[in-house]
Amino acid sequence: MGEYNGRTAVITGGGSGVGFAVAKKLVDGGARVAITGRSRATLDAARERLGENAVAVPGDVASLRDLDALADRVQSELGTIDALFVNAGVAALTPFDSTTEEAYDELFAINVKGAWFTVQKLAPLLNPGAGIVLTTSAANVVGMADTSVYAAGKAALRSMARSFSRELLPRGIRVNAISPGPVDTGALDATMTPEEAERFKAERVADNPMRRFGTPEEIARAALFLAFDATYTTGAELVADGGATQL
Ligand SMILES: NC(=O)c1ccc[n+]([C@@H]2O[C@H](COP(=O)([O-])OP(=O)(O)OC[C@H]3O[C@@H](n4cnc5c(N)ncnc54)[C@H](OP(=O)(O)O)[C@@H]3O)[C@@H](O)[C@H]2O)c1
Repeated sequence: MGEYNGRTAVITGGGSGVGFAVAKKLVDGGARVAITGRSRATLDAARERLGENAVAVPGDVASLRDLDALADRVQSELGTIDALFVNAGVAALTPFDSTTEEAYDELFAINVKGAWFTVQKLAPLLNPGAGIVLTTSAANVVGMADTSVYAAGKAALRSMARSFSRELLPRGIRVNAISPGPVDTGALDATMTPEEAERFKAERVADNPMRRFGTPEEIARAALFLAFDATYTTGAELVADGGATQL
């Protein structure tokens, strides 16, 4: 009997990186999960690796229509859910003097609006005692050049964890934030040139007290702790960053 036997969960951005690591641990522990993301190929590959206890629902969290479709599909496939991992997100450098309105709007549409409406649309399916985990970033408390839009969006998620906690408390639902430090998931390579990504990664490793990146599995363990084990914790933030923002 697995640790998550009989449990159900939704993971946005569950086709890759941290989200996939969460989905894998849940399925390996006996849960049934729904994962979502924009790339059908990525989702199909993830579904293949996760097996029949995973449902892949293609969609864009920035689209309310897609979120409605996700909620409908989750309801028909899983019924109600015990955990919601609001993990979909994109990273992009936004230099102060050259960032366009389009780039700004895209980051906020996915990372902030997408997260907010993911919670609104899926909250009706959450069981009493369920846990929501918002993936923010250690960047939400650090002033780093060229990351102002991303960092501000992640600070917004950190704030939402507090407000949602208050709003969902009457239903016995806890809402917490996980703040990863640098994790080498491919997200950086997708949004930066190879040179930018290389420079960014080298700087993060040099800055980090542990002199390394975290792994998706390390972040997944912390997120699962918040969702299932931290039953006296709501509105909180768990930082998993090798000590970068604390030491
Ligand atoms: N890696 C790090 O160093 C780091 C550090 C701190 C915080 N984080 C946060 O951790 C979370 C997971 O990132 P990751 O590092 O695991 O990167 P990742 O592998 O790129 O995962 C991000 C996932 O989000 C999905 N996604 C992106 N935009 C979406 C949208 N509009 N609608 C639906 N799904 C969308 C992506 O799938 P599609 O592209 O197919 O849509 C992908 O599966 C993100 O919120 C990220 O900001 C990462």
